[in-house]
Amino acid sequence: MSKKRLLTGLQASGTLHIGNYFGALKPFVEMYEEYDSHLMVADYHAVTSVRDPKVLRQNTIDVVKDYIAVGVDPEKVIMFKQSDILEHTELGWILDCLVTVPFLQQAHAYKDKVAKGLEANAGLFTYPMLMAADILLYDTEVVPVGEDQRQHIEYAREAVTKFNNAYGETFIEPKEHILKGTGVVPGIDGQKMSKSYKNTIPLFGTPEEIQKAVMSIVTGTGGEIPEVLHNIHEIVRGAVTNNFTETNSPQKFYDLYTENKSNYKALKEALIEDIEKLIAPMREKRASISDDDVRAVLKAGAEKARERAAKKMEDVRTKVGVTI
Ligand code: ADP
Ligand code: TRP
Repeated sequence: MSKKRLLTGLQASGTLHIGNYFGALKPFVEMYEEYDSHLMVADYHAVTSVRDPKVLRQNTIDVVKDYIAVGVDPEKVIMFKQSDILEHTELGWILDCLVTVPFLQQAHAYKDKVAKGLEANAGLFTYPMLMAADILLYDTEVVPVGEDQRQHIEYAREAVTKFNNAYGETFIEPKEHILKGTGVVPGIDGQKMSKSYKNTIPLFGTPEEIQKAVMSIVTGTGGEIPEVLHNIHEIVRGAVTNNFTETNSPQKFYDLYTENKSNYKALKEALIEDIEKLIAPMREKRASISDDDVRAVLKAGAEKARERAAKKMEDVRTKVGVTI
């Protein structure tokens, strides 16, 4: 039996942090080999917010390096960038013609971004239909994403219904796979760790940057267990020890915090040590990947993706009536 198709994408929007790692990257690494997997860098989606070509190029290269460094084997996945496959924007246009303005106006991601002050450009508005095209072109069944993307997958299903009703059975309905991973990793201030809150521990930071971030984690005034520090550390320790061991259970780990509850410095140093253990091998792997390696991976990925997308679009064009 052939494997189910899986596809996910990420916008190249900045430096990844350990929240992204535990919430999205690590769960992807753990599941992708069970599927016929596609991993896409959504560079055209990033054009909705990035206007500096140098930054866009660098972000694209960095995302690919990050994925390979954390354990995605480019041989076992079709890794490509969106802009290399022209069929994405082509199908995006057709889907735009099938949904209404009031429907797109209800998208939470669009409303949130505009509320945060992002420019309400037309690309940001039609973003969900380009994303639907990304998914539908490959007959994707499973889309691993964070909770914030749930509605976008509903929108992709709506696009399937609209297209199939208008032109006949063509696309299949994708289903979101919401990565529970490690839930929400707290940031150094105790809120959700997020690029936009400036409260991150960078995934591929230098030891100095990591030390600086960890030393800034909020603690109490003394005497009580430093909860934020403990919660971040428990996630990292779990990964370092491969989901804990009998002799090093979450309970024993908590005891360590009870015993040292006033010695924040020692606890923070222990966390820095654990982060180093986790990241050092990945950092080394990342340093061995050149920009040209990334270009080669994306070129090979584009060839495979293009073949699939081209075949699907041939059918779509005929059904829509643009072939004569
Ligand atoms: P950010 O909030 O840093 O901009 P994104 O929105 O780009 O992150 O999210 C990229 C992926 O990382 C998504 O799948 C999201 O669910 C996951 N993610 C982001 N922050 C966290 C966090 N603090 N804990 C767990 N997962 C997270
Ligand atoms: N919108 C997604 C995000 O911001 C990125 C994305 C673009 C995507 N195309 C996709 C995710 C297709 C899954 C499938 O995180």
